[in-house]
Amino acid sequence: MALSYLRFPPIRGAVWTGYTCSHPGYRGRGLARGVKLQSLTQAVDLGVPSVWTDNDGENGPMLHINERLGYTQRPGLVEHHKRVRPNGG
Ligand SMILES: CC(C)(COP(=O)(O)OP(=O)(O)OC[C@H]1O[C@@H](n2cnc3c(N)ncnc32)[C@H](O)[C@@H]1OP(=O)(O)O)[C@@H](O)C(=O)NCCC(=O)NCCS
Repeated sequence: MALSYLRFPPIRGAVWTGYTCSHPGYRGRGLARGVKLQSLTQAVDLGVPSVWTDNDGENGPMLHINERLGYTQRPGLVEHHKRVRPNGG
């Protein structure tokens, strides 16, 4: 009913907790927090020194879960996206 996983880089770099989600019919029961905590436990067992995560700044429940699990915001980080098309623009 819920999913979260550790995402490893191909060679080197940060380890991330990947797409955390829970079934819409079972939300608000602590399932997402539980599975994300389980991923963090796996990271500890594997000797991973830190785990990164990111999410939509308007996703209240996920921001709340991350805060409760002890994630801290990386100061000054801004992400930009550029659409690339064959004819420019
Ligand atoms: C975000 C998502 C994973 C939450 O799943 P969930 O099983 O309902 O989460 P939990 O029950 O473990 O925890 C939800 C927490 O958010 C809180 N919450 C709910 N709505 C909230 C809101 N609008 N603002 C802040 N907190 C909120 C709940 O009170 C609960 O906290 P608590 O246990 O301290 O009371 C789920 O809504 C989902 O799958 N969304 C779609 C996928 C997604 O957005 N994933 C995140 C990708 S990074």
